[in-house]
Amino acid sequence: MTVTDSPTSEETLANLSTENRRFEPPAELAAHANVTAEAYERAAADRPAFWAEQAERLTWAERWDTVLDDSNPPFYQWFTGGKINAAYNCVDRHVEAGRGDKVAIHWVGEPLDDTRDITYAQLKDEVCQAANALTDLGIAAGDRVAIYMPMIPEAIVAMLACARIGAPHTVVFGGFSADALASRIDDCQAKLVITSDGGYRRGAPAALKPAGDEARTKTDLVEKVLVVRRTGQDLGPSGWDDDVDVWWHDVVGAASTDHTPEAFDAEHPLYVMYTSGSTGKPKGILHTTGGYLVQTSYTHHAVFDLKPETDVYWCTADIGWVTGHSYIVYGPLANGVTQVVYEGTPDAPERGRWWQIIEQYGVTLFYTAPTAIRSFMKQGRDVPDKSDMSSLRILGSVGEPINPEAYIWYRDVIGGAGNNGQGTPIVDTWWQTETGALMISPLPGVTAGKPGSAMTALPGIAADVVDDQGDSVPNGSGGYLVITEPWPSMLRTIWGDRDRYVDTYWKTYADRGYYFAGDGAKKDADGDIWVLGRVDDVMNVSGHRLSTTEIESALVSHPKVAEAAVVGAKDEDTGQAVCAFVILRESAGDGGPEIVQELRGHVRKEIGPIATPRQIMIVAELPKTRSGKIMRRLLRDVAENREVGDVTTLADSSVMSLISQGMSSSSED
Ligand code: WTA
Repeated sequence: MTVTDSPTSEETLANLSTENRRFEPPAELAAHANVTAEAYERAAADRPAFWAEQAERLTWAERWDTVLDDSNPPFYQWFTGGKINAAYNCVDRHVEAGRGDKVAIHWVGEPLDDTRDITYAQLKDEVCQAANALTDLGIAAGDRVAIYMPMIPEAIVAMLACARIGAPHTVVFGGFSADALASRIDDCQAKLVITSDGGYRRGAPAALKPAGDEARTKTDLVEKVLVVRRTGQDLGPSGWDDDVDVWWHDVVGAASTDHTPEAFDAEHPLYVMYTSGSTGKPKGILHTTGGYLVQTSYTHHAVFDLKPETDVYWCTADIGWVTGHSYIVYGPLANGVTQVVYEGTPDAPERGRWWQIIEQYGVTLFYTAPTAIRSFMKQGRDVPDKSDMSSLRILGSVGEPINPEAYIWYRDVIGGAGNNGQGTPIVDTWWQTETGALMISPLPGVTAGKPGSAMTALPGIAADVVDDQGDSVPNGSGGYLVITEPWPSMLRTIWGDRDRYVDTYWKTYADRGYYFAGDGAKKDADGDIWVLGRVDDVMNVSGHRLSTTEIESALVSHPKVAEAAVVGAKDEDTGQAVCAFVILRESAGDGGPEIVQELRGHVRKEIGPIATPRQIMIVAELPKTRSGKIMRRLLRDVAENREVGDVTTLADSSVMSLISQGMSSSSED
């Protein structure tokens, strides 16, 4: 597939040709920036030495022997011989340095006035208690623990407690279905699930435990379920099983606050995070301890210009995604930050809740996603204008390309009063679950930002845009985004599937040894990078990765469905939206009047609400090449109401006109 097939390329390319706006760093910020321009060259001159220097920012129980072991590519290892405890670095060392009374987390529940301030000393006590409780429940180093929780402090405590005892966690987004949870538990063979009765979402308690129970009964791996009481709601038909279920407040509350952290090898597994790939089965991305902690903490320090003494940081991601792992838990806490963690949705109990929180806590560094910004743009500036957001210094964006207009709005409306009215720089941060930490981004005290561009690889990172052969494309051209040198927080493998790791990321440019990220990109006339979106069969819906195949498989698992093709179509709110084309089985007749709703509900149950198709079109045929491959490019044309492109390679070229006609008469809901 070529880059021009990528869903966002045409429009973004058009933007590129007209985008001349530049935003210089505010003078004051540049003058005191944590990282300055010299870092790029110094890092490029000796990458391992540069990362060793960043590793010194952490506290190691034993120093490493080798910074980068590249003797067996692509199975790279970092800081080998070193020993470290991630939880100690995120919590204890700040207390030992006399900062125990500093607030680590300003937790804001969705119901108004439901807040908790947690100091580093309190966080340390809770993490130690939870670590002791996990050990008492039979969890040892190397055992996997699934975490299925809302955005409550116990979720962070649970992750750190796992890290502290060397038990890799796999956090499953609370919006995922029981089936999705079960498949992840199964893949990584988790023996404990940590969950809660529920959490608050849009003004009401939303249950979690029943889905956790359903998942548990689909596998016979889970021995215990540790349950936080958050909402006090009814536990559903499955109720409570005394043999399996344990209340968090009973076992964690009763445990000792003394716990000695064990130092683990730098390459000890820290967590498995599942993400969508271009086949149906989610990939368990494995991150290890030392290199991951080095790069997440360094990039957080550099890209957010973090001044831990004075800054108040807020990342709106959920801990169920990699952004929550790297930029709520590990990076920021390793840096000793004070941060806001918010449980709910931006509009609960009313629009403007986020902006009120920024004002109330004096947030200085704010990190969110373009899809959220676009939804606020639609509401208009009256809502944010009611709050005083002059505390802001830096705004971050992650998850998908930020449209230039959303960038300008973010800067002007959210960040307009920041930096004493000089405006607030935006760091558009490109990275992936696989990269573990930020890779391509402006540095706020160095880079003159361009709306829509992630700009350049960070110091210590080597990225390029290349053609099919792997040759670097000249400025002004497009190609594929690659990482040309190993980096500390890189994934180490796909859990249980080393071959898939090699095939997915390293095969395309095997002769060069490049990591292929799956994104198309363009270098502008200055050589700055514009990420154009996925070139594989992965969609990006509200900044969340979904695989077309995964949703197709879910649809085909419905008894009325014979065949399905799914594409991501451009969507004003969510970036891309799921559009499905479905052929029904003959036995299903026309499927009945409720068929579209039935199928949408089915996908929701199989994967989760995020994957629910915006549109389902019942068709008689799908466009296929003579070799039987579905031409998604053509379906995308239809879904985006474009003139259908070249159909000459179709086995039956009349198929597309039938589908197009049907589409224009179908309705969206
Ligand atoms: C996309 C989220 C453009 C990209 C951290 C990538 C972006 C995928 C950006 C990874 C950005 C993320 N500009 N595209 N700033 N950030 N992406 O694994 O397609 O959920 O490959 O990690 O999101 O999504 P993931």
